[in-house]
Amino acid sequence: MIRAAMIGFGGIAQSHKNSYLSLEKRGIPVKLVAICDIDPEAFNRRLTINIETGESGLGGDFRTYTDLEEMLANEQIDLIDICLPTPLHCEYAIKMLERGYHVQSEKPMALTEEDCRRMIEARDRSGKQLMIGQCLRFYRQYEFLKACIEDGRYGKVTAAHFDRLSGPPRWGWNNWYMKPELSGGVIYDLHIHDCDMIRWLFGEPKAFSAVAAANFVKHDTVFVQYYYENLPVSAVAEWSLKGTKFNAGYRVGFEKASVIFDSNGVNVYSKEDGSVEKIEIAPYGGIEAEIEYFVDCIEKGIAPEKNMPESSARTVAIANKLLYSADHMGERMEFNPTI
Ligand SMILES: NC(=O)c1ccc[n+]([C@@H]2O[C@H](COP(=O)([O-])OP(=O)(O)OC[C@H]3O[C@@H](n4cnc5c(N)ncnc54)[C@H](O)[C@@H]3O)[C@@H](O)[C@H]2O)c1
Repeated sequence: MIRAAMIGFGGIAQSHKNSYLSLEKRGIPVKLVAICDIDPEAFNRRLTINIETGESGLGGDFRTYTDLEEMLANEQIDLIDICLPTPLHCEYAIKMLERGYHVQSEKPMALTEEDCRRMIEARDRSGKQLMIGQCLRFYRQYEFLKACIEDGRYGKVTAAHFDRLSGPPRWGWNNWYMKPELSGGVIYDLHIHDCDMIRWLFGEPKAFSAVAAANFVKHDTVFVQYYYENLPVSAVAEWSLKGTKFNAGYRVGFEKASVIFDSNGVNVYSKEDGSVEKIEIAPYGGIEAEIEYFVDCIEKGIAPEKNMPESSARTVAIANKLLYSADHMGERMEFNPTI
């Protein structure tokens, strides 16, 4: 049985907490034993964020703390799940690995490639496992797309586009999202998911470029182009669509069909006979599947190969270069990964 504890009980933590409760119910060998947040109000708040997280608040058999050392002293813990604002991921992940815990941290891994490297070195020194919450790799809609690409059922991919659209994220602790020096703006918050997904599906791009706009804050809208051999791949991420519901999806053209994920779910439009096939998607979400996967890796004593921190670090390296491109009129950036 893996005993898990969370640090940070803000927006996305609600989804993690609900995932643990669901995993426990499903008989997966994991138990959420405690949650720590420095703000005692975090345990009373009802929080709504741009994505669906399930019921917010407590409602489980675990203890709450406002002091991390007290939690670590009082609880038997195997896995620390970091749901803190992005600028704290690196410091806390290293500290918890050094104290002998397995660590899952929310995305993005960190704000710089150097910090990602330090996290990987801490994992190696500790002999514990580290995984970053690039949760799209665990959403059925994206796993389906990956399977289509890998088994070639619709032929080769001819073009791909990804969207991640939202209003400005204003629920964050001390408004950290709306301070681009802390959050990295929409590139590090929303686009990081599609950047990671594009790499997972198509491998490392040769180059990329980004054009950004500032509506409410710097870099809250970004249009990104990825350069592959004979394959146009693009993505749009927006924080500026105030008043709209969060929306994410893809349109991927294959030789024999178009695979589209939007508010109608995942549908396959045949280019051969004009038929439309709706794909049935299992009801539970990517964060639950991601935690289940990591728990299984810890139980088996193996590294999380589907989602290695080295790969999350490369996604951060691209995000960092996209910021530069966005600040330099969409300059094309070659990609020569060093991690
Ligand atoms: N996977 C996803 O789809 C997804 C979605 C949203 C957010 N995220 C990521 O999750 C992370 C958290 O985002 P959020 O929206 O939950 O932020 P948030 O601001 O809502 O929550 C952060 C919480 O951390 C607490 N906190 C701050 N410093 C602390 C400390 N030193 N010790 C303990 N608690 C502390 C705050 O009181 C707050 O409750 C971010 O890195 C974000 O990028 C991921």
